[in-house]
Amino acid sequence: MTSKENVKIAIIDFGGQYTHLIARRIRKLGIYSEIYQPENFHLNKEPNVVGIIFSGGPKSITDNQYKIQFDIRELKVPLLGICYGHQLISALLGGRVLRGKSREYGLTTIHCETKSALFNGLSQEQKVWMSHYDYIEALPEGFRITASSNLTKIVAYESQDRKIFGMQFHPEVTHTINGMAMLNKFISICTNIRPWNSEDYKDVIIDKIRKGVGNKKVFLFLSGGVDSTVSLMLCIKAIGNENVFPIYIDTGFMRENETFEIKNRFEKLGVKNLKIINAGKLFLQKLKWIVNPEQKRKIIGQLFIKILNKELLKMKTSNNWMLVQGTIYPDTIESGDSKNSTNIKTHHNRVFEIEKLIKQGKVIEPLKELYKDEVRELGKSLGLPEELLQRHPFPGPGLAIRIIASDTDKPETSYNQDEHYLNDILKPYKFQAMILPIKSVGVQGDTRTYNHPALIWSNEHRKPNWDTLRECANKIVNQLNSVNRVLFSLEKLNGELRLRRCYLNKKQIDLLRKVDAIVWKYVYSIKEIWQMPVVSIPLFDDKGRQVFVIRPVCSKDGMTADFYQMDFALLEKIIEELKTIRELGNLCYDITTKPPGTIEWE
Ligand code: XMP
Repeated sequence: MTSKENVKIAIIDFGGQYTHLIARRIRKLGIYSEIYQPENFHLNKEPNVVGIIFSGGPKSITDNQYKIQFDIRELKVPLLGICYGHQLISALLGGRVLRGKSREYGLTTIHCETKSALFNGLSQEQKVWMSHYDYIEALPEGFRITASSNLTKIVAYESQDRKIFGMQFHPEVTHTINGMAMLNKFISICTNIRPWNSEDYKDVIIDKIRKGVGNKKVFLFLSGGVDSTVSLMLCIKAIGNENVFPIYIDTGFMRENETFEIKNRFEKLGVKNLKIINAGKLFLQKLKWIVNPEQKRKIIGQLFIKILNKELLKMKTSNNWMLVQGTIYPDTIESGDSKNSTNIKTHHNRVFEIEKLIKQGKVIEPLKELYKDEVRELGKSLGLPEELLQRHPFPGPGLAIRIIASDTDKPETSYNQDEHYLNDILKPYKFQAMILPIKSVGVQGDTRTYNHPALIWSNEHRKPNWDTLRECANKIVNQLNSVNRVLFSLEKLNGELRLRRCYLNKKQIDLLRKVDAIVWKYVYSIKEIWQMPVVSIPLFDDKGRQVFVIRPVCSKDGMTADFYQMDFALLEKIIEELKTIRELGNLCYDITTKPPGTIEWE
């Protein structure tokens, strides 16, 4: 262990989606941090720990309390609990935690006690990011409340004597505006030195690849995006162009002109062995009748490996190869990789077949610890062109997970009761609303949800007032169990929307690609938009035209996201041009933050 690691903050991982992000933030504040599983952390064996953070997590304190291996009553170092961790500390010390009546997701305003240790110097009102069901009803003795929101009385607490603090919200996510300042104050209570510098990742990673690969050949799936390109360039630097064999598979689910652009880009970068495989027919054939999103994702991942195996056979490499993947940290955590975290969605680079190769030691993932913004920085230091580095993230399964399929035309009725409440919630706003008979994936309280979107629209005006819409979306998702996403229809709804049987076929893909290309033309230069999925859903108006959704989001790392508030004049231009596509009906705008909705729908 180097001297820089001699002072460290221990993060106890209860399976939160953001645990790794806490570790990254702490390191950015100049202190080494390490993540421990609750059962493996023995305080008496860790003399260098100067502070402890309990992470969030998907479980409910009311069902199951994790066993930690030390008594927090006897703790000599400061302790901070975040979300689940905040509730756990309270429960362990004799406070009362209850199953949530009111739920809070996304951006929330809280009122802080400005004389408290973690909020001093900040203004009384703070915007923070919440994701919780349970809440603390009563604090342990000796603790005081330091922040509240309209829905939750005990949003933060402290005992300055015992140096124990709790926050129901997530200071580690970028959407908590002053989150870093709050964490910084906690660190200052733990120690007055900051010896850790952010490493020069490039050399460390190149060295790791070189040692990991030895004298083997390297295969790599290239998507053309930032992660796989940076991985490729690192491999080339580590073992030489001639030993790296990038494979680009055209799945048929790419965006317009993608394959052509990729070929050109890698030629320009001087990549030697690029192999382009056209597998559109195979992918379509295997996915034709698949409706379930997880099943789709798994089939896609399997096909990638099937194609790799064929290539290996052709090249007669026997066992003398390694697979390098551009997996970044959010891919692994969302696939349920950390011991206590749950599966939100199986990323294409985390399917069973790949897990098997990982166990056999055949896979190297040089970017596994990094987030998208860090990968972009790394790409910059490798001299990659800006237009490539700033490309929107695009998921491995491509457009296949942006076409919502349906194998029925009979809407289910389980949410009828909620539809009634939905109209009550919206009464003060003059919006019309309905719950849609389709589902999409969400992440709520650190767990996967697969639930319905609500659609709201106005009969009076179609120009969105984003703040009002945000308020409505928050209320709807927080109050209705069957809803995890909210859409705003950019036009009045005329007549009913009908659910139709709808599958992943060439016609659907071509249509989505066409819509996507038009929208993309207008938004690609908007810097604030981090990513913008366009999604087709199996709902049709009475003229047989299909409903589409656009989902522009602002984010830094994909772990949390806010919807982008687009200028209406621009939206009008987009709508106008989209009208040239006769199959397209209502265009909806996804106004869901992450959480509770994920960025992609499936
Ligand atoms: P979600 O939808 O979970 O996505 O909010 C977070 C980020 O990850 C991207 N994504 C993927 N990327 N393979 C990838 O390489 C995948 O299977 C995959 N699924 C989601 C998503 O586009 C967003 O940027």
